[in-house]
Amino acid sequence: MQRGGALLLLILATACQRDTVPEQQARGAAAYAAYCQACHEQEDGIGPRLTPAVLATRMTAERLFAYNRDKMPYNAGKLLTDEQYWDITAYLLARSGMAGRDEPLWEGNADFPLSLPTQ
Ligand code: HEC
Repeated sequence: MQRGGALLLLILATACQRDTVPEQQARGAAAYAAYCQACHEQEDGIGPRLTPAVLATRMTAERLFAYNRDKMPYNAGKLLTDEQYWDITAYLLARSGMAGRDEPLWEGNADFPLSLPTQ
C-alpha cells in the first residue's frame, strides 16, 4: 500500500512538472531556425527582418502568436502545432527584450502589450 502511494505520487509529480522559460525558448529557437529564418534572416530573404519594432506592430503577444500561426510560414499558415507557434513567439519576444513574463508563454498569459524595450 505504502509503495503504491509513493509510486502514485511520483507519477503525479512527473505529470505536473511545468515547462520552464529556457526550455520553451530553446524549442522556439530551434523551430524558428528550421521554419522561419531562411526568409527572415538572410540577405536575399523575401520576409522582413523581425526587429523589435516590427514585432511590436502586432500590439500584443497573443496577436503576434495568432499572426504567426495563421500566416507563417508564408502561404503555409498552421503548418506547425499551436505549441510550436507559442514556442517561436516566446523566442522572438525574448530575443527582442519583450518577453515580459517569468513563466512560459501560452494563451492564458499572452494578452499583454508589446512595448519596445527601454535601454
Ligand atoms: C517563405 C518565406 C517565409 C517563411 C518561411 C516565413 N516567413 Fe514570415 N514573412 C514572409 C513574408 C514575405 C512576410 C511579409 C508578408 C506580408 O507583408 O504580407 C512575412 C511576414 C512576417 C511577419 C510580420 C512582419 C511585419 O512586417 O509585420 C512575422 C511576425 C513573420 N513573418 C514571422 C514568421 C515566422 C514566425 C515564421 C516561421 C514559422 C515565418 N515568418 C516564416 C516570408 C516568410
